[in-house]
Amino acid sequence: MQKELEKIRKSCDGCQKCQLSNTRTNIVFDDGIPNHKLMLIGEAPGYWEDVKGKPFVGKAGQLLDKIFECVGLSRQNNVYICNTIKCRPPENRNPLPEEQRACREYLDAQINLMKPKILLLCGGIAAKAILGDNIGGITRIRGKWFDGKDYGLEDTKIMPIFHPSYLLRNDSREKGSPKWLMWQDIKEIKKVYDELL
Ligand code: URA
Repeated sequence: MQKELEKIRKSCDGCQKCQLSNTRTNIVFDDGIPNHKLMLIGEAPGYWEDVKGKPFVGKAGQLLDKIFECVGLSRQNNVYICNTIKCRPPENRNPLPEEQRACREYLDAQINLMKPKILLLCGGIAAKAILGDNIGGITRIRGKWFDGKDYGLEDTKIMPIFHPSYLLRNDSREKGSPKWLMWQDIKEIKKVYDELL
């Protein structure tokens, strides 16, 4: 799998398919452990990701690591991580449709290589990129399993989850709060992960 992944990474090196190539510092291709069980797709690189060339290394990324840690998972051992687009949008604005389209071949290649049994879509933008624009808001769809078959991904269970940056803006841990809901979701994800062969 490493060889194949290097091929995709190389094809992305120096990419100039969209305007973000003019403003990026680094391409943010992936992190974590390439594997067939668990993959997470985030939205887009932010400031620190652009500086370091790695996804989820800022505050949101640290929280994401903690969430995984709570159930004994980690990017070092269990999760392959990437974003819907590989370059930082200026001022962290949302990715434009043409930027997502231009970058899609890299994301599709990553998904098709991993063929993950579990695919987590982190935040509304990642959810819409994979499940379609009409899927509904993240608050309504988070924590639900979607059958990959309906999205061209045989043998994959897909779950949208809240983005950690949303959790950082919502401090409460009360029952029903975003943090509490994330805790329910990560426990469910771990349960299904443990049932995988
Ligand atoms: N937010 C994302 O969606 N992806 C990152 O890599 C960092 C922050």
